[in-house]
Amino acid sequence: MVVPPDHKLHEVIQVSGLILSDDIRRQKIENHVAKMRFSAATARKIQDVFISEMNKGIHQQPSSLQMENTYIPELLDGTEEGLYLALDLGGTNFRVLLLELAHGAPVRQEVKRYYIGSELRVGSAIPLFDYLAECVSDFVIAQGLQDIELPLGFTFSFPMVQHSLDVGILVTWTKSFNCPDAVNKDAVRLLREALDRRDDTKVKVVAVLNDTTGTLVQGSTLDHNTAIGLILGTGSNACYLERADRVEHWETERHGERQVIIDIEWGAFGDNGVLDFIKTDFDRENDANSLIVNSFTFEKYIAGKYLGEVVRVILARLTKEGLLFVGENAPQSLLTPGSLTTDLVSHIEQDSVDGGDGNTKEVLGKFGIVPDQDDIRIVQYVCAVASNRAALLVSICLASLLDRIDREQVTIAVDGSLYKHHPRLEGWMTKYISLLAPGRKFKLIHAEDGSGKGAALVSAIAQRLQKRL
Ligand code: GLC
Repeated sequence: MVVPPDHKLHEVIQVSGLILSDDIRRQKIENHVAKMRFSAATARKIQDVFISEMNKGIHQQPSSLQMENTYIPELLDGTEEGLYLALDLGGTNFRVLLLELAHGAPVRQEVKRYYIGSELRVGSAIPLFDYLAECVSDFVIAQGLQDIELPLGFTFSFPMVQHSLDVGILVTWTKSFNCPDAVNKDAVRLLREALDRRDDTKVKVVAVLNDTTGTLVQGSTLDHNTAIGLILGTGSNACYLERADRVEHWETERHGERQVIIDIEWGAFGDNGVLDFIKTDFDRENDANSLIVNSFTFEKYIAGKYLGEVVRVILARLTKEGLLFVGENAPQSLLTPGSLTTDLVSHIEQDSVDGGDGNTKEVLGKFGIVPDQDDIRIVQYVCAVASNRAALLVSICLASLLDRIDREQVTIAVDGSLYKHHPRLEGWMTKYISLLAPGRKFKLIHAEDGSGKGAALVSAIAQRLQKRL
Protein backbone atom coordinates (compact mmCIF):
# COMPACT_ATOMS: atom_id res chain seq x y z
CA MET A 1 0.00 0.00 0.00
CA VAL A 2 1.32 3.46 -0.92
CA VAL A 3 1.23 5.80 2.04
CA PRO A 4 0.71 9.36 0.81
CA PRO A 5 2.96 12.08 2.14
CA ASP A 6 1.23 13.69 5.07
CA HIS A 7 1.66 17.21 3.70
CA LYS A 8 -0.95 16.29 1.08
CA LEU A 9 -3.27 15.14 3.85
CA HIS A 10 -2.54 18.30 5.79
CA GLU A 11 -3.34 20.50 2.81
CA VAL A 12 -6.60 18.76 2.07
CA ILE A 13 -7.99 18.58 5.60
CA GLN A 14 -7.72 22.30 6.26
CA VAL A 15 -10.85 24.38 5.78
CA SER A 16 -10.24 27.73 4.14
CA GLY A 17 -9.05 30.40 6.55
CA LEU A 18 -11.04 33.32 7.85
CA ILE A 19 -10.89 36.55 5.85
CA LEU A 20 -11.44 39.68 7.94
CA SER A 21 -10.37 43.28 7.48
CA ASP A 22 -8.99 43.38 11.03
CA ASP A 23 -6.00 41.08 11.14
CA ILE A 24 -5.65 40.99 14.92
CA ARG A 25 -9.29 40.07 15.34
CA ARG A 26 -8.91 37.35 12.71
CA GLN A 27 -5.86 35.96 14.46
CA LYS A 28 -7.59 35.88 17.83
CA ILE A 29 -10.60 34.04 16.42
CA GLU A 30 -8.44 31.52 14.58
CA ASN A 31 -6.50 30.90 17.78
CA HIS A 32 -9.72 30.13 19.65
CA VAL A 33 -10.59 27.29 17.29
CA ALA A 34 -7.05 26.22 16.34
CA LYS A 35 -7.29 23.01 18.37
CA MET A 36 -10.29 21.92 16.32
CA ARG A 37 -8.32 22.09 13.09
CA PHE A 38 -6.27 18.94 13.09
CA SER A 39 -2.84 18.57 11.60
CA ALA A 40 -2.08 15.43 9.61
CA ALA A 41 -0.11 14.16 12.60
CA THR A 42 -3.13 14.56 14.90
CA ALA A 43 -5.37 12.79 12.38
CA ARG A 44 -2.91 9.88 12.27
CA LYS A 45 -2.74 9.75 16.05
CA ILE A 46 -6.54 9.55 16.31
CA GLN A 47 -6.47 6.77 13.73
CA ASP A 48 -3.88 4.83 15.75
CA VAL A 49 -5.92 5.20 18.91
CA PHE A 50 -9.09 4.07 17.15
CA ILE A 51 -7.39 0.97 15.75
CA SER A 52 -5.96 0.12 19.15
CA GLU A 53 -9.34 0.59 20.88
CA MET A 54 -11.04 -1.61 18.25
CA ASN A 55 -8.52 -4.37 18.84
CA LYS A 56 -8.91 -4.20 22.59
CA GLY A 57 -12.70 -4.14 22.34
CA ILE A 58 -12.93 -7.18 20.10
CA HIS A 59 -10.56 -9.05 22.44
CA GLN A 60 -12.70 -8.22 25.44
CA GLN A 61 -10.05 -6.00 27.00
CA PRO A 62 -10.95 -2.65 28.59
CA SER A 63 -11.71 -0.23 25.76
CA SER A 64 -14.05 2.64 25.02
CA LEU A 65 -15.24 0.70 21.95
CA GLN A 66 -17.72 -1.98 22.87
CA MET A 67 -17.45 -3.90 19.57
CA GLU A 68 -20.71 -5.69 20.37
CA ASN A 69 -21.73 -8.94 18.72
CA THR A 70 -25.12 -8.55 17.02
CA TYR A 71 -25.48 -12.30 16.30
CA ILE A 72 -26.38 -11.51 12.70
CA PRO A 73 -24.08 -13.78 10.72
CA GLU A 74 -25.61 -13.45 7.28
CA LEU A 75 -27.61 -11.13 5.10
CA LEU A 76 -30.70 -11.80 2.99
CA ASP A 77 -30.49 -14.81 0.69
CA GLY A 78 -33.50 -14.18 -1.53
CA THR A 79 -35.76 -16.77 0.09
CA GLU A 80 -37.49 -14.45 2.56
CA GLU A 81 -41.25 -14.18 2.09
CA GLY A 82 -44.17 -12.69 3.99
CA LEU A 83 -45.02 -9.89 6.39
CA TYR A 84 -42.56 -8.41 8.86
CA LEU A 85 -42.88 -5.60 11.36
CA ALA A 86 -40.31 -3.14 12.59
CA LEU A 87 -40.20 -0.71 15.46
CA ASP A 88 -37.59 2.00 15.22
CA LEU A 89 -36.66 3.87 18.40
CA GLY A 90 -33.69 6.07 19.03
CA GLY A 91 -33.23 8.79 16.44
CA THR A 92 -35.19 11.75 15.18
CA ASN A 93 -38.21 9.65 14.26
CA PHE A 94 -40.10 6.95 16.05
CA ARG A 95 -41.85 4.67 13.61
CA VAL A 96 -43.67 1.42 13.14
CA LEU A 97 -43.30 -0.28 9.77
CA LEU A 98 -44.72 -3.21 7.93
CA LEU A 99 -42.73 -4.75 5.12
CA GLU A 100 -43.95 -7.42 2.76
CA LEU A 101 -41.16 -9.48 1.24
CA ALA A 102 -41.17 -11.68 -1.83
CA HIS A 103 -37.98 -13.47 -2.86
CA GLY A 104 -36.04 -11.48 -0.25
CA ALA A 105 -37.10 -8.10 -1.65
CA PRO A 106 -39.62 -5.60 -0.30
CA VAL A 107 -42.77 -5.47 -2.43
CA ARG A 108 -44.91 -3.35 -0.09
CA GLN A 109 -44.25 -1.02 2.78
CA GLU A 110 -46.52 0.75 5.26
CA VAL A 111 -45.08 3.22 7.76
CA LYS A 112 -46.48 5.34 10.53
CA ARG A 113 -44.58 7.94 12.52
CA TYR A 114 -45.44 8.57 16.14
CA TYR A 115 -44.41 11.37 18.44
CA ILE A 116 -42.67 10.71 21.75
CA GLY A 117 -42.95 13.64 24.15
CA SER A 118 -40.05 14.63 26.35
CA GLU A 119 -41.88 13.46 29.49
CA LEU A 120 -41.74 9.90 28.14
CA ARG A 121 -38.10 10.21 27.07
CA VAL A 122 -36.79 11.03 30.51
CA GLY A 123 -39.22 9.41 32.93
CA SER A 124 -39.58 5.83 34.08
CA ALA A 125 -39.21 3.08 31.47
CA ILE A 126 -42.65 1.51 31.97
CA PRO A 127 -44.71 4.37 30.52
CA LEU A 128 -42.24 4.63 27.63
CA PHE A 129 -42.50 0.93 26.74
CA ASP A 130 -46.26 0.99 27.30
CA TYR A 131 -46.43 3.78 24.76
CA LEU A 132 -44.27 1.82 22.30
CA ALA A 133 -46.60 -1.14 22.66
CA GLU A 134 -49.64 1.11 22.23
CA CYS A 135 -48.21 2.43 18.95
CA VAL A 136 -47.49 -1.10 17.72
CA SER A 137 -51.08 -2.12 18.49
CA ASP A 138 -52.49 1.02 16.92
CA PHE A 139 -50.55 0.31 13.74
CA VAL A 140 -51.24 -3.43 13.57
CA ILE A 141 -54.94 -3.01 14.27
CA ALA A 142 -55.20 -0.25 11.64
CA GLN A 143 -53.69 -2.73 9.18
CA GLY A 144 -56.25 -5.36 10.27
CA LEU A 145 -53.44 -7.75 11.23
CA GLN A 146 -54.19 -8.21 14.94
CA ASP A 147 -54.98 -11.91 14.58
CA ILE A 148 -51.92 -12.79 12.57
CA GLU A 149 -48.64 -13.79 14.17
CA LEU A 150 -46.22 -11.12 13.03
CA PRO A 151 -42.46 -11.24 13.62
CA LEU A 152 -41.05 -7.89 14.74
CA GLY A 153 -37.51 -6.53 14.53
CA PHE A 154 -36.88 -3.94 17.23
CA THR A 155 -34.39 -1.23 16.33
CA PHE A 156 -33.28 0.02 19.71
CA SER A 157 -30.50 2.44 18.91
CA PHE A 158 -28.68 2.54 22.19
CA PRO A 159 -25.66 0.63 23.44
CA MET A 160 -26.63 -2.89 24.47
CA VAL A 161 -24.83 -5.97 25.65
CA GLN A 162 -26.33 -8.68 23.49
CA HIS A 163 -26.63 -12.19 24.82
CA SER A 164 -28.31 -13.33 21.62
CA LEU A 165 -30.19 -11.92 18.66
CA ASP A 166 -33.23 -11.23 20.83
CA VAL A 167 -31.68 -10.24 24.14
CA GLY A 168 -30.20 -6.76 24.46
CA ILE A 169 -29.27 -5.35 27.85
CA LEU A 170 -29.20 -1.55 27.86
CA VAL A 171 -25.78 -0.21 28.86
CA THR A 172 -26.68 3.47 29.01
CA TRP A 173 -29.13 5.83 27.37
CA THR A 174 -27.76 8.35 24.91
CA LYS A 175 -29.01 11.28 22.82
CA SER A 176 -32.34 12.62 24.12
CA PHE A 177 -33.47 9.63 26.20
CA ASN A 178 -32.80 8.97 29.85
CA CYS A 179 -35.07 6.55 31.72
CA PRO A 180 -32.62 5.29 34.35
CA ASP A 181 -34.69 2.32 35.51
CA ALA A 182 -34.23 0.61 32.14
CA VAL A 183 -30.45 0.54 32.40
CA ASN A 184 -29.15 -3.03 32.79
CA LYS A 185 -32.52 -4.37 31.63
CA ASP A 186 -33.31 -6.30 28.49
CA ALA A 187 -35.04 -3.97 26.02
CA VAL A 188 -36.78 -6.91 24.34
CA ARG A 189 -38.19 -8.11 27.60
CA LEU A 190 -39.47 -4.63 28.44
CA LEU A 191 -41.20 -4.49 25.06
CA ARG A 192 -42.61 -8.03 25.28
CA GLU A 193 -44.00 -7.34 28.75
CA ALA A 194 -45.64 -4.13 27.53
CA LEU A 195 -47.16 -5.98 24.54
CA ASP A 196 -48.37 -8.72 26.89
CA ARG A 197 -50.02 -6.18 29.18
CA ARG A 198 -52.13 -5.06 26.21
CA ASP A 199 -52.59 -8.52 24.76
CA ASP A 200 -54.43 -7.19 21.70
CA THR A 201 -52.11 -8.38 18.91
CA LYS A 202 -50.02 -11.43 18.07
CA VAL A 203 -46.77 -9.57 17.57
CA LYS A 204 -43.67 -11.63 18.30
CA VAL A 205 -40.39 -9.78 18.94
CA VAL A 206 -37.75 -11.93 17.21
CA ALA A 207 -34.72 -9.64 17.03
CA VAL A 208 -33.27 -6.54 18.60
CA LEU A 209 -30.78 -4.49 16.65
CA ASN A 210 -29.04 -1.20 16.33
CA ASP A 211 -29.88 1.34 13.62
CA THR A 212 -26.42 0.91 12.06
CA THR A 213 -27.14 -2.81 11.66
CA GLY A 214 -30.46 -2.06 9.99
CA THR A 215 -28.65 0.32 7.68
CA LEU A 216 -26.02 -2.26 6.74
CA VAL A 217 -28.66 -4.90 6.01
CA GLN A 218 -30.82 -2.45 4.06
CA GLY A 219 -27.72 -1.22 2.19
CA SER A 220 -26.85 -4.78 1.20
CA THR A 221 -30.14 -5.01 -0.72
CA LEU A 222 -29.01 -1.99 -2.77
CA ASP A 223 -25.36 -2.93 -3.20
CA HIS A 224 -23.98 -6.38 -2.44
CA ASN A 225 -20.55 -4.97 -1.51
CA THR A 226 -22.05 -3.29 1.55
CA ALA A 227 -19.96 -4.19 4.59
CA ILE A 228 -20.32 -1.08 6.76
CA GLY A 229 -23.45 0.59 8.14
CA LEU A 230 -23.05 4.18 9.29
CA ILE A 231 -25.43 6.50 11.09
CA LEU A 232 -24.81 10.23 11.07
CA GLY A 233 -27.99 11.50 12.61
CA THR A 234 -29.04 12.55 16.10
CA GLY A 235 -26.29 10.19 17.25
CA SER A 236 -23.45 8.55 15.39
CA ASN A 237 -22.21 5.01 15.21
CA ALA A 238 -21.13 2.33 12.76
CA CYS A 239 -21.18 -1.43 12.38
CA TYR A 240 -19.36 -3.72 9.98
CA LEU A 241 -19.02 -7.31 8.85
CA GLU A 242 -16.26 -8.92 10.91
CA ARG A 243 -14.62 -12.30 10.50
CA ALA A 244 -16.35 -14.63 12.97
CA ASP A 245 -13.09 -16.16 14.14
CA ARG A 246 -11.93 -12.76 15.42
CA VAL A 247 -14.96 -12.33 17.67
CA GLU A 248 -14.50 -13.53 21.24
CA HIS A 249 -17.78 -12.49 22.82
CA TRP A 250 -20.16 -15.08 21.43
CA GLU A 251 -22.59 -16.48 23.99
CA THR A 252 -24.80 -18.62 21.79
CA GLU A 253 -23.70 -21.84 20.18
CA ARG A 254 -21.61 -21.33 17.05
CA HIS A 255 -22.68 -23.01 13.84
CA GLY A 256 -19.63 -22.50 11.67
CA GLU A 257 -20.46 -18.84 10.97
CA ARG A 258 -17.87 -17.13 8.77
CA GLN A 259 -18.81 -13.58 9.59
CA VAL A 260 -20.96 -11.53 11.91
CA ILE A 261 -22.05 -7.91 12.17
CA ILE A 262 -20.24 -6.02 14.93
CA ASP A 263 -21.78 -2.88 16.42
CA ILE A 264 -18.80 -0.68 17.26
CA GLU A 265 -20.66 1.90 19.41
CA TRP A 266 -18.12 4.52 18.44
CA GLY A 267 -20.16 7.25 20.10
CA ALA A 268 -18.41 6.24 23.32
CA PHE A 269 -14.93 6.40 21.75
CA GLY A 270 -12.73 8.35 24.15
CA ASP A 271 -14.91 7.91 27.25
CA ASN A 272 -11.83 6.39 28.91
CA GLY A 273 -9.69 9.46 28.17
CA VAL A 274 -7.81 8.13 25.10
CA LEU A 275 -9.01 11.08 23.01
CA ASP A 276 -8.40 13.80 25.58
CA PHE A 277 -5.67 15.29 23.39
CA ILE A 278 -8.32 16.70 21.03
CA LYS A 279 -10.79 17.87 23.68
CA THR A 280 -11.35 21.63 23.77
CA ASP A 281 -13.04 23.86 26.34
CA PHE A 282 -15.95 24.08 23.91
CA ASP A 283 -16.34 20.31 24.05
CA ARG A 284 -16.27 20.40 27.85
CA GLU A 285 -19.05 22.95 27.87
CA ASN A 286 -21.06 21.03 25.27
CA ASP A 287 -20.72 17.91 27.42
CA ALA A 288 -21.73 19.80 30.56
CA ASN A 289 -24.92 20.95 28.79
CA SER A 290 -25.85 17.43 27.62
CA LEU A 291 -28.38 15.07 29.17
CA ILE A 292 -25.79 12.53 30.35
CA VAL A 293 -22.41 14.11 31.07
CA ASN A 294 -19.02 12.38 30.77
CA SER A 295 -20.49 9.87 28.38
CA PHE A 296 -20.43 9.44 24.61
CA THR A 297 -17.46 11.73 24.11
CA PHE A 298 -16.98 11.05 20.39
CA GLU A 299 -20.66 11.37 19.56
CA LYS A 300 -20.62 14.82 21.13
CA TYR A 301 -17.95 15.90 18.61
CA ILE A 302 -19.84 14.77 15.55
CA ALA A 303 -23.53 14.00 15.83
CA GLY A 304 -26.61 16.03 15.02
CA LYS A 305 -27.73 16.25 18.62
CA TYR A 306 -24.55 18.18 19.47
CA LEU A 307 -22.96 19.87 16.46
CA GLY A 308 -25.20 22.93 16.72
CA GLU A 309 -24.42 23.21 20.40
CA VAL A 310 -20.66 23.11 19.77
CA VAL A 311 -21.09 25.96 17.28
CA ARG A 312 -23.28 27.89 19.72
CA VAL A 313 -20.76 27.53 22.54
CA ILE A 314 -17.99 28.89 20.31
CA LEU A 315 -20.10 31.80 19.05
CA ALA A 316 -21.13 32.66 22.61
CA ARG A 317 -17.50 32.65 23.71
CA LEU A 318 -16.42 34.88 20.81
CA THR A 319 -19.28 37.25 21.60
CA LYS A 320 -18.30 37.45 25.27
CA GLU A 321 -14.72 38.21 24.28
CA GLY A 322 -15.87 41.11 22.12
CA LEU A 323 -14.82 39.40 18.89
CA LEU A 324 -18.28 38.84 17.42
CA PHE A 325 -21.50 40.87 17.14
CA VAL A 326 -19.63 43.89 18.43
CA GLY A 327 -22.08 46.70 19.16
CA GLU A 328 -25.09 44.38 18.95
CA ASN A 329 -27.18 43.99 22.06
CA ALA A 330 -25.95 40.81 23.75
CA PRO A 331 -28.02 38.17 21.93
CA GLN A 332 -29.47 36.52 25.02
CA SER A 333 -31.08 33.66 23.13
CA LEU A 334 -27.73 32.62 21.69
CA LEU A 335 -26.48 32.19 25.24
CA THR A 336 -29.15 29.58 25.95
CA PRO A 337 -27.91 25.98 25.64
CA GLY A 338 -29.63 24.06 22.89
CA SER A 339 -30.89 27.16 21.08
CA LEU A 340 -28.80 26.60 17.93
CA THR A 341 -29.81 23.30 16.42
CA THR A 342 -27.72 21.38 13.90
CA ASP A 343 -30.15 21.90 11.02
CA LEU A 344 -29.31 25.62 11.31
CA VAL A 345 -25.61 24.80 10.97
CA SER A 346 -26.41 22.86 7.78
CA HIS A 347 -28.40 25.84 6.55
CA ILE A 348 -25.45 28.19 7.14
CA GLU A 349 -23.06 25.72 5.54
CA GLN A 350 -25.17 25.91 2.39
CA ASP A 351 -24.12 29.56 2.15
CA SER A 352 -20.47 28.53 2.26
CA VAL A 353 -21.13 26.13 -0.60
CA ASP A 354 -22.97 28.78 -2.64
CA GLY A 355 -20.80 31.73 -1.64
CA GLY A 356 -23.89 33.53 -0.30
CA ASP A 357 -25.07 34.94 3.01
CA GLY A 358 -28.88 34.73 2.87
CA ASN A 359 -29.20 31.64 5.07
CA THR A 360 -26.72 32.97 7.60
CA LYS A 361 -28.66 36.22 7.93
CA GLU A 362 -31.90 34.30 8.22
CA VAL A 363 -30.57 32.09 11.04
CA LEU A 364 -29.05 35.00 12.94
CA GLY A 365 -32.27 36.93 12.43
CA LYS A 366 -34.04 34.23 14.45
CA PHE A 367 -31.78 35.20 17.33
CA GLY A 368 -32.61 38.86 16.85
CA ILE A 369 -29.16 39.58 15.45
CA VAL A 370 -28.52 41.87 12.49
CA PRO A 371 -24.98 40.87 11.50
CA ASP A 372 -22.42 42.90 9.59
CA GLN A 373 -20.20 41.33 6.92
CA ASP A 374 -17.49 40.35 9.42
CA ASP A 375 -20.03 38.67 11.71
CA ILE A 376 -21.32 36.66 8.77
CA ARG A 377 -17.84 35.50 7.83
CA ILE A 378 -17.04 34.52 11.40
CA VAL A 379 -20.26 32.57 11.88
CA GLN A 380 -19.76 30.74 8.58
CA TYR A 381 -16.16 30.01 9.51
CA VAL A 382 -17.12 28.55 12.89
CA CYS A 383 -19.80 26.35 11.29
CA ALA A 384 -17.25 25.15 8.74
CA VAL A 385 -14.59 24.37 11.35
CA ALA A 386 -16.98 22.39 13.56
CA SER A 387 -18.55 20.52 10.63
CA ASN A 388 -15.20 19.81 9.08
CA ARG A 389 -13.88 18.36 12.32
CA ALA A 390 -16.90 16.03 12.41
CA ALA A 391 -16.32 14.92 8.82
CA LEU A 392 -12.66 14.27 9.46
CA LEU A 393 -13.26 12.30 12.66
CA VAL A 394 -15.81 10.07 10.98
CA SER A 395 -13.50 9.60 7.99
CA ILE A 396 -10.60 8.59 10.22
CA CYS A 397 -12.70 5.81 11.75
CA LEU A 398 -14.09 4.67 8.40
CA ALA A 399 -10.62 4.56 6.86
CA SER A 400 -9.46 2.34 9.73
CA LEU A 401 -12.45 0.09 9.17
CA LEU A 402 -11.70 -0.28 5.46
CA ASP A 403 -8.21 -1.48 6.37
CA ARG A 404 -9.62 -3.87 8.95
CA ILE A 405 -12.19 -5.36 6.56
CA ASP A 406 -9.53 -5.67 3.86
CA ARG A 407 -11.78 -6.42 0.88
CA GLU A 408 -11.30 -5.39 -2.68
CA GLN A 409 -14.33 -3.14 -2.71
CA VAL A 410 -16.43 -1.97 0.23
CA THR A 411 -19.68 -0.06 0.14
CA ILE A 412 -20.59 2.03 3.17
CA ALA A 413 -24.34 2.37 3.63
CA VAL A 414 -25.23 5.63 5.36
CA ASP A 415 -28.41 6.90 6.95
CA GLY A 416 -29.24 9.74 9.32
CA SER A 417 -30.57 13.27 9.30
CA LEU A 418 -27.19 14.99 9.62
CA TYR A 419 -25.69 13.19 6.63
CA LYS A 420 -28.80 13.82 4.60
CA HIS A 421 -29.13 17.52 5.30
CA HIS A 422 -25.57 18.76 5.72
CA PRO A 423 -24.36 19.97 2.34
CA ARG A 424 -20.64 19.27 2.76
CA LEU A 425 -20.17 16.10 4.82
CA GLU A 426 -20.39 13.59 2.01
CA GLY A 427 -17.90 15.45 -0.19
CA TRP A 428 -15.40 15.93 2.62
CA MET A 429 -15.71 12.33 3.73
CA THR A 430 -15.11 10.99 0.23
CA LYS A 431 -11.92 13.04 -0.01
CA TYR A 432 -10.61 12.29 3.47
CA ILE A 433 -11.27 8.56 3.42
CA SER A 434 -9.38 8.25 0.13
CA LEU A 435 -6.39 9.98 1.67
CA LEU A 436 -6.51 8.14 4.97
CA ALA A 437 -6.98 4.70 3.43
CA PRO A 438 -5.05 5.02 0.19
CA GLY A 439 -5.65 2.33 -2.38
CA ARG A 440 -8.89 1.16 -0.76
CA LYS A 441 -11.86 1.11 -3.10
CA PHE A 442 -15.03 2.27 -1.37
CA LYS A 443 -18.37 3.83 -2.12
CA LEU A 444 -20.76 5.79 0.12
CA ILE A 445 -24.43 5.10 -0.56
CA HIS A 446 -27.59 6.42 1.07
CA ALA A 447 -29.54 3.58 2.65
CA GLU A 448 -32.70 5.59 3.11
CA ASP A 449 -34.63 4.49 6.19
CA GLY A 450 -32.14 1.75 6.94
CA SER A 451 -32.98 1.75 10.62
CA GLY A 452 -36.65 1.07 9.88
CA LYS A 453 -36.65 -1.18 6.84
CA GLY A 454 -33.49 -2.89 8.01
CA ALA A 455 -35.23 -4.01 11.19
CA ALA A 456 -37.97 -5.74 9.22
CA LEU A 457 -35.31 -7.39 7.06
CA VAL A 458 -33.42 -8.52 10.16
CA SER A 459 -36.58 -10.07 11.58
CA ALA A 460 -36.82 -12.07 8.35
CA ILE A 461 -33.21 -13.19 8.72
CA ALA A 462 -33.89 -14.07 12.37
CA GLN A 463 -36.82 -16.27 11.41
CA ARG A 464 -34.79 -18.02 8.75
CA LEU A 465 -31.98 -18.69 11.23
CA GLN A 466 -34.45 -19.92 13.82
CA LYS A 467 -35.93 -22.45 11.41
CA ARG A 468 -32.54 -23.69 10.25
CA LEU A 469 -30.54 -23.90 13.48
C1 GLC B 1 -26.00 6.36 19.79
C2 GLC B 1 -26.34 4.94 20.20
C3 GLC B 1 -26.03 3.97 19.09
C4 GLC B 1 -26.69 4.42 17.80
C5 GLC B 1 -26.29 5.83 17.48
C6 GLC B 1 -26.95 6.36 16.22
O1 GLC B 1 -24.63 6.44 19.63
O2 GLC B 1 -25.64 4.58 21.37
O3 GLC B 1 -26.48 2.67 19.45
O4 GLC B 1 -26.33 3.56 16.77
O5 GLC B 1 -26.62 6.68 18.56
O6 GLC B 1 -28.34 6.44 16.39
